[in-house]
Amino acid sequence: MNPFAFEARNISQYYGVVRALHHVSIGIRPGEVHAIIGENGAGKSTLMNIFCGKLRPTEGTLFRNEAQIVFHSPFDAQNVGIAIAPQEISLVPDLTVFENILLGAQRTKGIAINWTKTRKDAIDYLHAIDDTIDPESKVKDLSKAQQQLVQISRAAACNAKILILDEPTAALTYRETEKLYSYIRQFRQSGGAIFYISHRLDEVLDLSDRISVLRDGAFITELDPKSTTKEDMVNHMVGRTVTRTARQDRSAVLKSEIVLKVEGLSRPGEFSKISFELHKGEILGVSGLIGAGRTEMAKCLFGLTHKSEGCVELFGKPSDIRSPADAINQGLVYLPEERKQEGLFPLLSITENMAMPNLDRFRGLLHMRTSDMVRDVQAYVQSLKIKIGKQHDRITSLSGGNQQKVIIGRWLMKNSKILIMDEPTRGIDVNAKFEIQRELRRLTELGLSIIFISSEIEEVLDVSDGIMVLHEGVVKGICDTATATPEKLMQLAMS
Ligand SMILES: Nc1ncnc2c1ncn2[C@@H]1O[C@H](COP(=O)(O)OP(=O)(O)OP(=O)(O)O)[C@@H](O)[C@H]1O
Ligand SMILES: [Mg+2]
Repeated sequence: MNPFAFEARNISQYYGVVRALHHVSIGIRPGEVHAIIGENGAGKSTLMNIFCGKLRPTEGTLFRNEAQIVFHSPFDAQNVGIAIAPQEISLVPDLTVFENILLGAQRTKGIAINWTKTRKDAIDYLHAIDDTIDPESKVKDLSKAQQQLVQISRAAACNAKILILDEPTAALTYRETEKLYSYIRQFRQSGGAIFYISHRLDEVLDLSDRISVLRDGAFITELDPKSTTKEDMVNHMVGRTVTRTARQDRSAVLKSEIVLKVEGLSRPGEFSKISFELHKGEILGVSGLIGAGRTEMAKCLFGLTHKSEGCVELFGKPSDIRSPADAINQGLVYLPEERKQEGLFPLLSITENMAMPNLDRFRGLLHMRTSDMVRDVQAYVQSLKIKIGKQHDRITSLSGGNQQKVIIGRWLMKNSKILIMDEPTRGIDVNAKFEIQRELRRLTELGLSIIFISSEIEEVLDVSDGIMVLHEGVVKGICDTATATPEKLMQLAMS
């Protein structure tokens, strides 16, 4: 199959009365990486679902080399060479990598399948992206990052000439991102084209040949990555000039009482002799490369695992947290990295999803105080700027990033005193990150203390008072945000 040009003209998409896309025209040429950027809920995934045949647009037309085409299903799109690696992992966990790749590709046309060749092809596609993944392993035994790469191989294995990658690097570590980059460059070289969606704007600048901005379902402008800046991109995405929150100075917060004191905390093979203090109203950023032991430390503090050495003091008293229930009772809550697995209830509403684990709060004498529940959820919808239709709509009607914000709201609602957040803003757009940062600041002014784990150095610098850097389970330094620089943090994280 030869490379081809593809174009969408005048696409509109309605979900009931919600207008997700409005007269969007966008195209792609062979050998180009076309990035689509926009805030959470801007319509990126919706547009891509139309391009790959998952969704029939309410209005508008698709063209392949100037000839009109209609997709009735993803198979129609695959037949002409368009395939997607969707935003959410959609592999079958109990099947092997090989079987999953095979499921995506349609090879049953014509005579009987040549299994030997099919098998070799699938493995070739996989190994072009990552040659360390075993095609025979079950998908459920792979890391999130590996699953994401398998999902991309599956799309490529449809003999795709146009690949749609919706947030492909959200779960990737540095090493896998590099692999993916080189695959993308090679794919482009061979005449393939890629629609690339990412909230990581550096990545977009690095990889793409042109950038289209969507806002509120409309096409806003096209930018040239050679001449545009991240600020430009954000301003177009948001529709106004965005100001960052000012950097904090840790000295003020160091005067307030110590709420959590950790001394010599160790768990063999995970982390060793971690010591730090968290003050009331402080946001302590935790930086480091993937595998530095940040999540392991958080899980141990929350009672999901047990320390082998060291002591923890909560609010000035020795504490022995043996389980998450203990931790929550003592005012310490952990928002884990894997939020999807941890509990999104797809059949329930936005309100129910946010309030569900907080039901005790709304228990009246005889029945639930639902109006209080609706009011409290509404407050978080507003303060986190969650883009929703109605509160009683299903959670699945929200864009990926907005679903995440609902879950962040759920944990903020717990009224804890210490909150440990593990990569809370993954997949969340830049402006929404600022909103979340502002909300966290507001909560610290009310006395909440936060441990904020993030791999994005800029974000850690923006949000925290102090920053602890871990490397291979050991604290390499605790810096004051006012004087820290990305270079210094990176150096500590790698040393
Ligand atoms: N199945 C659905 N039912 C109702 N509304 C939907 C549905 N899917 C998406 N929407 C709405 O369409 C709009 C666009 O959503 P879309 O998923 O395309 O956004 P996005 O740009 O991909 O955002 P993100 O960066 O968060 O992934 C949002 O307002 C969303 O709430
Ligand atoms: Mg999306």
